[in-house]
Amino acid sequence: MQIAFAKAALPKSGILVVPMAEGGALEGLAAALDKALGGGLGRAMEAASFTGKKGQSASLLAPGAGLKRVLLMGIGKAESFTAKLAEELGGAAQAALAKETEATVLADKLAPDLAAHIGLGARLRSYRFDKYRTTEKEDEKPKLASFKILSASAVKSEAAYAPLAAVAEGVELTRNLVTEPANELYPEEFAKRTEALKKLGVKVEIFDKKDLEKLGFGSLLCVGWGSARESRMVVMQWFGASGSSSSEGKKTKKLKNPIAFIGKGVTFDTGGISIKPAAGMEDMKWDMAGAGTVTGLMAALAGRKAKVDAVGLIGLVENMPSGTAIRPGDVVKSYSGQTIEVLNTDAEGRLVLADVLYYAQERFAPKYMVNLATLTGAIIVGLGHEYAGLFSNNDELSEKLLAAGKATGEGLWRMPLAPLGESYDKNLNSDIADVKNIGGGRAGGSITAAQFLQRFVNGKPWAHLDIAGMAWAGKDTAVTPKGATAFGVRLLDQLVRDNFEA
Ligand code: BES
Ligand code: MN
Ligand code: ZN
Repeated sequence: MQIAFAKAALPKSGILVVPMAEGGALEGLAAALDKALGGGLGRAMEAASFTGKKGQSASLLAPGAGLKRVLLMGIGKAESFTAKLAEELGGAAQAALAKETEATVLADKLAPDLAAHIGLGARLRSYRFDKYRTTEKEDEKPKLASFKILSASAVKSEAAYAPLAAVAEGVELTRNLVTEPANELYPEEFAKRTEALKKLGVKVEIFDKKDLEKLGFGSLLCVGWGSARESRMVVMQWFGASGSSSSEGKKTKKLKNPIAFIGKGVTFDTGGISIKPAAGMEDMKWDMAGAGTVTGLMAALAGRKAKVDAVGLIGLVENMPSGTAIRPGDVVKSYSGQTIEVLNTDAEGRLVLADVLYYAQERFAPKYMVNLATLTGAIIVGLGHEYAGLFSNNDELSEKLLAAGKATGEGLWRMPLAPLGESYDKNLNSDIADVKNIGGGRAGGSITAAQFLQRFVNGKPWAHLDIAGMAWAGKDTAVTPKGATAFGVRLLDQLVRDNFEA
């Protein structure tokens, strides 16, 4: 779908979307439209009891003046119409008109920046994963190809939209990765796809199994023992801050205290020998959503040339049961040096993150670290599909994340995290090794998982986002068709935008 901005002139044909504020008068193009319809817009509003309340809509078919359709959409109080609400409006308009071929939004009375966010919402909502459909009939396919937004300043709207389009591309990349089935997207293939970021200026390094063995990634690697697919780690560096290059012009660029984003990339999670029940196991193809989000986020930051030093690190493994798989009770040595007693092979995400988190700190001395993971079913029990769980050792970083969540609608809810040695943490002490990968039974399972991760964080400001309830949506929402959501891409882009750009 093509998003375009044009100057404010009333079209003489086609389909018009008219955003209306609650209690607002007909102004600008809406007033001109009403006039062209001989007062028909006002009459229709009256007849439909349309007041402009948020979420209200009314459709006028063949209203005259050569138009095919006019869709009135309420935006609520004009003064509280935010970027997030503009995106929701764009998404709702896209969904309502998906079977049409073109639509034009009258946004001449909105700030040009808000008009750009209408475009973002429409684009995000129009996402579809069509790769494996071969028999869909033409008339079943969405047709909306042109989505035009009439702005008071098309130039300003276009300028505001350019970085948002880069974010949308990041979101689409993440959704594509997360939607791919596990027979197509396994660690090696995932790693290969990250190489597409090179053309955006991202430095991409792929560590294969041998490299990881040499480094001593015993915790990450044990998860993949049972799989026919080799494990990988990918490091993606974006040099966007002016101070990042230590030796200008040379190849030896160095990130200066970057923000580090770390993702769990379990391309399929059977549970391993601690095998999961059959029902719903197919969902575990999206157990790599954390890694998918980090990849899309790096594409977004680079795509919009964010003035920040950032590094994305993803651990890619497949968790399978087999004669070579890790057994419950096995002990492995992590990259940090700590030994881990693996009591449940289905608590594998934390094993992957343990090594990648520790490596990120050691190599990059990041200012802040944020990891994303579909880590626990328990977070879905606790928070449902409304918020991701936020666990952090740092109040300042937490506040920044919560604010970015509010702005984008990718909501976070802060959960408890105890210092080392305190009650939640003590459950992880093993009888024969330094730490065990489960503890405390079913109680507080998401917290236990976060506590485990914290054992591999050296006091750096860090946040863990448990996105198990958010990575995949069972139903459509405003800017997200059902399926892979790319939760976290817009959130973390906003975090960077609001706090870390020069
Ligand atoms: N990938 C799962 C968590 C998950 C469950 C994500 C449902 C999305 C939907 C994770 O690896 C896992 O299996 N966690 C276990 C931990 C337990 C063994 C301590 C869980 O949540 O049951
Ligand atoms: Mn698991
Ligand atoms: Zn998992």
